[in-house]
Amino acid sequence: MDRHRHFLSIADWPTERLTEALDLAAALKADPGHLGRPLAGKTLAMVFAKSSTRTRVSFEVGAGQLGAQALFLSARDIQLGRGEPISDTARVLSRYVHGIMIRTFAQSDVEQLARYGSVPVINGLTDLLHPCQIMADVQTIQESFGRDLESVVVAWIGDGNNMANSWLNAAARLGFGLRLACPEGYDPEPALLAAARASTSVELFRDPAEAAEGARVVTTDVWASMGQEEEAAQRAVAFAGYHVDDALMSRAADDAIFLHCLPAHRGEEVAAEVIDGPASRVWDEAENRLHAQKAILAMLMGD
Ligand code: CP
Ligand code: NVA
Repeated sequence: MDRHRHFLSIADWPTERLTEALDLAAALKADPGHLGRPLAGKTLAMVFAKSSTRTRVSFEVGAGQLGAQALFLSARDIQLGRGEPISDTARVLSRYVHGIMIRTFAQSDVEQLARYGSVPVINGLTDLLHPCQIMADVQTIQESFGRDLESVVVAWIGDGNNMANSWLNAAARLGFGLRLACPEGYDPEPALLAAARASTSVELFRDPAEAAEGARVVTTDVWASMGQEEEAAQRAVAFAGYHVDDALMSRAADDAIFLHCLPAHRGEEVAAEVIDGPASRVWDEAENRLHAQKAILAMLMGD
């Protein structure tokens, strides 16, 4: 499988290709018609095994702006949900559409879709990774601090989840520093942590205040991700001290910004005073999903 033909993980793309996507995303934000309609006459299938507001709408709107038709396919309603193999689904969808975006549980399902299909596959979130979100997050950071990320330190507060894992991949490729504060037992994926540590400065803390110290970006996510609803009570205990409030933000740099992929739970992982306060860039971040994904769609599916 040629991993550059797909967007399964940030780790699959070299730095230059990620930078090209980020530059294109910025150009598309400045001028939505920048590329014309490079996907005219094409179709994007969007397979969702989990809920979504931002991913669904931004992919559908973005594909439309580039000239493509987008098909929303709930995994519950297609035969995949009744046990049709992902490999067969990949081969069949590839006969109809020019690209597939998928949000599901297992990263291995996304990999199989790419392996057995013959069209580009884009990871719209798995339990392991959320690469499109991190591209939008990096775009948002560049809007505040410029294109060169080397002076940027990102503090991740909370679960070592799909977002944390993709932050590790992005730090390794783009060279910014990453400081993670995770409770014991909720660390990110060890292999991704080790790989990122080999390329850039990555520090793991237990104390959120230590991780936030001097950071220019403070970011967090829900304590229980999709599929972990039954662990919510136990996680609420484990994450009790991992709350981004004004006191924690005051440990960060004076010009620090706050990011959250959304949806957010005010009063849990983030205080309303932060997410609705002056350092918050979460609405720009959500908007940038559209621009970043248009760049990825154009690079993978464009003429
Ligand atoms: N951030 C994000 O992926 O949002 P949705 O779950 O609404 O798509
Ligand atoms: N970590 C969260 C991100 C939601 C966009 C989840 O997987 O539910």
